[in-house]
Amino acid sequence: MRQFECINGEMVIGGIPATKIADKFGTPVYVTDESALRENFRRINKAFSRHMPTHIHYACKANTNLAILRILKQEGSYIDAVSIGEVETCLRAGFSPDRIMFTGVCVSTKELEAVVSKGVLINIDSFSEMKRLAGIKSRIPISIRVNPDVGAGHHDHVVTGSRKSKFGIPLADILKAYSESLDLGLIPVGLHAHIGAGVQEIDPFVKVTDVLVSIAKEIEEKLRIELEFIDIGGGIGIPYKPDEKPMDVDLLAQEVTARIKAGCSVETVAIEPGRYIVADTTVLLTKVVDIKETPEKNFACIDAGFNTLIRPSFYGSYHHIAVANKFDASGEVIYDVVGPICESGDFLARDRLLPKLNEGDVIAVYDAGAYGFSMSSQYNSRPRCREVLVYNGTANIIREMETIDDILRHQRIPSRLMV
Ligand code: LLP
Repeated sequence: MRQFECINGEMVIGGIPATKIADKFGTPVYVTDESALRENFRRINKAFSRHMPTHIHYACKANTNLAILRILKQEGSYIDAVSIGEVETCLRAGFSPDRIMFTGVCVSTKELEAVVSKGVLINIDSFSEMKRLAGIKSRIPISIRVNPDVGAGHHDHVVTGSRKSKFGIPLADILKAYSESLDLGLIPVGLHAHIGAGVQEIDPFVKVTDVLVSIAKEIEEKLRIELEFIDIGGGIGIPYKPDEKPMDVDLLAQEVTARIKAGCSVETVAIEPGRYIVADTTVLLTKVVDIKETPEKNFACIDAGFNTLIRPSFYGSYHHIAVANKFDASGEVIYDVVGPICESGDFLARDRLLPKLNEGDVIAVYDAGAYGFSMSSQYNSRPRCREVLVYNGTANIIREMETIDDILRHQRIPSRLMV
């Protein structure tokens, strides 16, 4: 959890009081601090690259805002993209195709053709995908995703590396996959696995590295394939709660790179952090619009619901909450912090001790930069909100608020219904 400045009892983000941002741009609004983003990227890049050549593939599913992508391009990032939409977005943000790896699952031939035409590296998820790719274009480099039988993550929904998950080629078939890729005229250059998301411990990353290194060694010896990189995937967790500690990424990097260097002749490590890079760069600012005291509960009703930030409802995730205009006040009342969506599952926090709230107070929801806006929706016909970038006391809109017209733009009423 990032610490924010407190000036005159007010939370300050990137040199600007949060209440000023809320008043100027309206709420709800996602506010990203550019310096924090650059710091996060540099920290993880430095941790790995001082041991061996490193490609940080930012997992852009966490946040695909063009301005954020542009900053990461300036920092020297590579990209992990999962759809033709993400590939196209990153190209438009200025990434060159050779910086992008496409790691799809359940990839249709149509999407494969589109991705191939962009010239990005394809990370194969199944035998069928590999054959279909070779039918579209051969003599191109590829990477292969293995299901490493090492799974971890903050919730069942996000564990991807376990045997029963839909991802990757089973461990038992991985040699066959590389040998078949040669038969199909493809050029295997990489090996990839992703264990899951929101992993707080180093151990699963060490385990998956061991699996990848032993595969790399085996294909060197048996198939004479010398891979250019091993990609250990993403999933580095962050501390969402005040008492949690951040992962020691220096130790992680040391453990992972030492194993690669000792166990095979692969010279480059790739890693795909999404959350680690963007989560704590962004707060969601939202206003208290109503206070409802019932015999059972105190409800702080705010203008953001699970349409704006779905993680608490969907995964039961904890996001820290502060009151931006009472930043140094202590907790006094226990609230359920709830939104305007017509479902009882619409909450951002439950049973949270906060300073006594009034209508108009500005609530800051922490660590909202990863899977916040990117998972937001128009449910209940509520337009998606604005995004703002702050840097050294200046604030710029990086996404306009949607309008009701935006929601209705693609709908059609057949003329026979218009009589
Ligand atoms: N690489 C691959 C192949 C992935 O599938 C993912 C995430 C990542 C990298 C990045 O994981 P990260 O470093 O951001 O944890 N919506 C969920 C997270 C889903 C992650 C899906 N894949 C959440 O809000 O926690």
